[in-house]
Amino acid sequence: MADSVLAKSLRLARPYWALLALALLLSAVASVLSGSVAWLVKPVLDDIFIAKNYGYLKLLPLALIGLYVLRGLTTFFQAYLMRMAALKLSNDLREKMYAKLLRLPVGEVGRETAGRMVSRVINDTTTVEPILADVFKTLTLEGLTIVTLVVVAVSRRWDLALLSFTVFPAVAFGARKMSGKARKTRHRAQEEIANLTHRVNESLQGIREIKVYGQEDSLLEKFRQELRAYYRFLLKVTKYREGSKLIVDFLTGVGGALVLTYGGLLIVRGAITPGDFFSILTAILMTFTPVRKISRAYTGIHDAAAALERIEEVLSYPEEKGGTRKATPPQKGLTLAKVSFKYPHTADWVLKDVELEIPAGKVTAIVGPSGAGKTTLASLIPRFYDPTLGKVLLDGIDLKEFDLASLRSLIGLVSQEVVLFNATVYENIAFGKPGATREEVIAAAKLAYAHEFIIKLPQGYDTVLGHRGFSLSGGQKQRLAIARAILKNPPILILDEATSHLDAVSEQKVQEALEKLMVGRTTVVIAHRLSTVRNADLLVVMDHGKIVDKGSHEEIVKRCALYRELYQSFSREGKVIPLKRKK
Ligand SMILES: Nc1ncnc2c1ncn2[C@@H]1O[C@H](COP(=O)(O)OP(=O)(O)OP(=O)(O)O)[C@@H](O)[C@H]1O
Ligand SMILES: [Mg+2]
Repeated sequence: MADSVLAKSLRLARPYWALLALALLLSAVASVLSGSVAWLVKPVLDDIFIAKNYGYLKLLPLALIGLYVLRGLTTFFQAYLMRMAALKLSNDLREKMYAKLLRLPVGEVGRETAGRMVSRVINDTTTVEPILADVFKTLTLEGLTIVTLVVVAVSRRWDLALLSFTVFPAVAFGARKMSGKARKTRHRAQEEIANLTHRVNESLQGIREIKVYGQEDSLLEKFRQELRAYYRFLLKVTKYREGSKLIVDFLTGVGGALVLTYGGLLIVRGAITPGDFFSILTAILMTFTPVRKISRAYTGIHDAAAALERIEEVLSYPEEKGGTRKATPPQKGLTLAKVSFKYPHTADWVLKDVELEIPAGKVTAIVGPSGAGKTTLASLIPRFYDPTLGKVLLDGIDLKEFDLASLRSLIGLVSQEVVLFNATVYENIAFGKPGATREEVIAAAKLAYAHEFIIKLPQGYDTVLGHRGFSLSGGQKQRLAIARAILKNPPILILDEATSHLDAVSEQKVQEALEKLMVGRTTVVIAHRLSTVRNADLLVVMDHGKIVDKGSHEEIVKRCALYRELYQSFSREGKVIPLKRKK
């Protein structure tokens, strides 16, 4: 598992190979320098301490200072470069995931709960980043350090080095086994503490029940038991931890004695000098820290593996796909041909066998009770969803053949639930036409009857909206969304109850603006206003995902009972109060 994480990370890190190569080079230098420290022990001991060579005494301390300064510098820069690569890489991943999120089909975005998606984009990448930095850094720097130290030790006297290197790792291994047990038990102890906390909290909340039902003693008894368990676990932790120290001490003593005996024998026989001996010993002691760091880095790898897996899952989601044809404004119109639709991962048909011609340049109004499928039908036009069966055509060409961006560039949308972005009012309107001039934005706002309220906002057009920004009323939001659509000036317009949140007076005004806007455009309006519906060129009545009637108002009002029923519920201002869905 760890290897595959490393392989994956390295694959991801490929764009930063130059950075990593430089860092690797620095690691090599730093570890050679570490090795030199162990190497220097011999001349210090043999030439200065034993041979009492005065010349060396002047030189070696300086060399030592130089070595450490240089090692410090190289370590600093290699850590810096490694982190740089890791940060770039995790930001890369975040960007990729965000880009992916934007390219996911609407249905998939809805499926993945928002929180999980956010946690994948932000948290998982955050988990991966330090691991990459630390693992790369540790494996390269510490790994190479161990290698150079081993080389130094072996070059001093191979058999003594070999003996030492078998004794001490065995000790370290034993210690790790024990500390693993201690870790598990500590985990249990933490759970126990959580239980205790929960118990106290619960008792505070339920104090009335406890008293009324006389549960004081039995709860106290439970609490006592939990305390006892906690006590036992923590004592066990101590036993393992201190026990492992005991074993390590013992093994170190035995191992040390072995090394000392053999090394001492070699020295006495004149096969090596005391300098050789201590040089080897230093090298071995110096490997302890890198070994510990590497083993710690390895445990972190498991978290990274899980996070990387989740990231890869997101990155592998299929994206929405468009065709290559460039979409042009409708000449004849839009056609729904035998369209049936189910939302992804659901069982019920929401649209059933819908046949509809939406004429170009005309207004088509869709009415029907709540849940009839009006919004769903409209969302097939920008290809938020594709029909499960059947086709949607633009001038006889399947929408799937068009390039998505070009298709969508033809469409203006004011949806039922208006979403404002965390940006200024100005930017929220200019969303409809990137690069629009200030005059254009203001003109659109005026047409949508939004200008008046905008200039009364704290910073006018520069007021920040949305998350942590200024919040607007439903009607104000709708007017901004309408301004957005007006600014875009699209040949196809979808208005999903665009004025539902407006009061009678502003609705009147916005309605006028919208009616001006609709002229000459292929408009699908999901309407609840008598005037809109009456003036529509084509009226479509939907119920239970089916088209129950279509035609002009005069025709339908005569023959369609549902339509008459819808209209009996007109309020005085002429609004349709949507009927509640009968299941
Ligand atoms: N994202 C979705 N996933 C699953 N089912 C959905 C989804 N959106 C809507 N539905 C279901 O599809 C059916 C039609 O919904 P739709 O929003 O198209 O109705 P509507 O005619 O626009 O209603 P309203 O007048 O209340 O806006 C409903 O039964 C609804 O529960
Ligand atoms: Mg709807």
